[in-house]
Amino acid sequence: MKVLVIGSGAREHALAVGVSYDPSVDEVHVAPGNPGMEAVATRHDVKAEDPASVVDLARSLGADLVIVGPEAPLVAGVADALGEAGIACFGPSAAAAKLEASKAFAKDVMHSASVPTARSVVCTDLDTVAVALDELGSPYVVKYDGLAAGKGVVVTEDRDEALAHAADCLDKPDGRVVLEEYLDGPEVSLFCVTDGKTVVPLQAAQDFKRVGEGDSGPNTGGMGAYTPLDWAPTDLSQWVVDNVAGPTVDEMARRGTPFAGLLYVGLALTSKGVKVVEFNARFGDPETQVVLAALKTPLGQLLKAAATGTLADFEALDWYEGSLVTVVVASENYPATPVTGDEIVGLDTITAEDNAHVLHAGTATGPDGKLVSSGGRVLSVIGWGDDLAEARDRAYKAIDKINLRGSHFRTDIALKAEQGQLELSDAYNNGTV
Ligand code: AMP
Ligand code: GLY
Repeated sequence: MKVLVIGSGAREHALAVGVSYDPSVDEVHVAPGNPGMEAVATRHDVKAEDPASVVDLARSLGADLVIVGPEAPLVAGVADALGEAGIACFGPSAAAAKLEASKAFAKDVMHSASVPTARSVVCTDLDTVAVALDELGSPYVVKYDGLAAGKGVVVTEDRDEALAHAADCLDKPDGRVVLEEYLDGPEVSLFCVTDGKTVVPLQAAQDFKRVGEGDSGPNTGGMGAYTPLDWAPTDLSQWVVDNVAGPTVDEMARRGTPFAGLLYVGLALTSKGVKVVEFNARFGDPETQVVLAALKTPLGQLLKAAATGTLADFEALDWYEGSLVTVVVASENYPATPVTGDEIVGLDTITAEDNAHVLHAGTATGPDGKLVSSGGRVLSVIGWGDDLAEARDRAYKAIDKINLRGSHFRTDIALKAEQGQLELSDAYNNGTV
């Protein structure tokens, strides 16, 4: 089959590499893609957020499957338009993507489906915010209701900072802000592939959202990830399917807006049990880079089954037995005002013998043909090995071979897990979950 991947980040690079390994896939196309993807796919121009432009491209290529990476094209209705044109699309309709596009909507669905989540209050004015902050208490969790590329959430013990962020959110057009009870405990990302009825969980991963070591500094799109999570309860995935993803998919179908695509379940394993932190309507970045590298089942066939409503008949998934770690190399000043246009050197020195590979995100080909940085998150470097220690070592050794002026990365990705320092509360150890 011919597959078209929409998007240009390391997540889409991972999707393109993943489908290129599928024996049933004979052509991989990406739009707009990035220079790194040219090794496995043909690049095309597209206005990714214009449904007609994506349909025209998919038609001209004769694509049998379109995989939409980012949320914005989904919210713009790309999956709806492809569906109307009779082209299989992995990704939900605009109405279903609202699970990501509005945190208030997601909370409403969670309540209807009895999905465990943080207590929350939706506010449209600052007076209500002030009352709700005091009621929910510190640490304060303040979330912009709409899409914000992973940067709309502030978690702080400083009441003034919480109020200031809420005021910023309210200042936006249709500004609404969601205040939440703080959830303690380690976070887990569980990707669930669904055709709107059947739910197939992928291997759980953990990502690192803060820019700095030890989870310091502001939130980013994600600075690293690893899989699998040896410390998590063994029945976590099934528990999430039974108590979160299944009921959510059923509730979306009941509302007449079935959710087919990737339901990204962000969880906190709190002292009071597993709770949902967020839903996204697409693969997570950078977790996808490690989860798909661990998946041995042909990716194109799995996503085609989800896009065509035949997931119930799909074979059980097959996984690599070792560990995978990805570390994001970000440009100078990311996430505030990333510096771009710097040359990236050393990538050609990283080979299969390093047990590592590099996925591109914010890269571009400069006028003289050299590879340069073009965004905040520039590269996603993946190492694999028998255990986390080996995978981490290989990822960081590969990073040492790369040179990008002013770039930075976290040195503690998967470190606590490697050192056995991630503790679950007694609720888990007692078998409550
Ligand atoms: P979100 O965009 O909702 O995923 O939030 C981004 C990040 O903010 C999450 O991955 C958490 O690290 C943090 N966060 C969000 N909600 C909460 C919460 N209720 N309690 C603690 N941390 C949170
Ligand atoms: N890894 C976080 C996200 O993709 O939203």
